[in-house]
Amino acid sequence: MSSAVVIPAAGLGLRLGGETPKAFREVGGDSLLVHAVRGLKAASAADLVCFVVAVPPGSEETVGKELAPYVGDARLIVVAGGAERADSVRAALDVLPVDGIDCILVHDAARAFVPADVIERVVAAVRAGAGAVVPVVPVTDTIKVVGPGGEVVDTPDRSTLVAVQTPQGFAPDVLRRAHAAGADAGVTDDAMMCERMGITVRTVEGSPDAFKVTRPQDLLLAEALLAERRL
Ligand code: C5P
Repeated sequence: MSSAVVIPAAGLGLRLGGETPKAFREVGGDSLLVHAVRGLKAASAADLVCFVVAVPPGSEETVGKELAPYVGDARLIVVAGGAERADSVRAALDVLPVDGIDCILVHDAARAFVPADVIERVVAAVRAGAGAVVPVVPVTDTIKVVGPGGEVVDTPDRSTLVAVQTPQGFAPDVLRRAHAAGADAGVTDDAMMCERMGITVRTVEGSPDAFKVTRPQDLLLAEALLAERRL
C-alpha cells in the first residue's frame, strides 16, 4: 500500500515577520516548503504517491511549478488554503484521491527539517493498525496552567507531558470523519479532532530537528541545522 501527504502551507506566518508567507521563506537558498517536500520524499519506506499542498490563494500555479521537480513520480496537487489551518487541511483532503492509500500524513510546511526516520515511524504505526499517530518529544520547560488574571492555577507533572510535532499520520477514513465532523473550535492539530471523536491517538518518537519555524530565531536555527547536514 501507499501513503499520501497533505501539507498545509497557506499560513501568513505573522509571528515570523517579513513580507513573504512563512512556507516560502528561504533557508539555504530553498523555501521551507521545498525543504519539507524533499524531506518527505527522502522517507522512502513511507511510499508517498501523492502530495496535496494548500497554499495562499492565487499562488497555486507558481507553487505547482516550483515543487514539481521535487516530487519525483508522485502526484502533486496544489489547492488554495483557507482562513485557518483546519480549513487548509480540509481543502486539501477534499481533492485527495484515496484509492490504494492506507495512510494519510498531515505535515506542516513549517516543520521543514523533519528527519526521514520520524516520518517512517509514523507511517509504520498507522500501517500496524493505529487510527491516529503523532510524533512527540519530551517537554523541557516546566508548564503551568494560568487563570484569567494570569495567575498560576496548576503545574502538571512534566513527566506526563510531551510536545507534539508533524507529520501526524491517520487511517484515511479516520481523518476524513474527523474533518467532516467540523468540530474545529479551539483545535490546533488534526489529532485533537480525532481525540474529540473518541479515537485513541498513539505516539511515536519525534525529533528536535522537526521543530516548527515560528519566530525569527528559528530561521537561524534552521540555517545552522542545514549547514551541519551539508557538511
Ligand atoms: O501558524 P502555524 O505555524 O501554527 O501554522 C502551521 C502550518 O499551518 C504552517 O505550515 C502554515 O502554513 C499552515 N497554515 C495553513 N493555513 C492557515 C494557517 C496555517 O495552511 N490558514
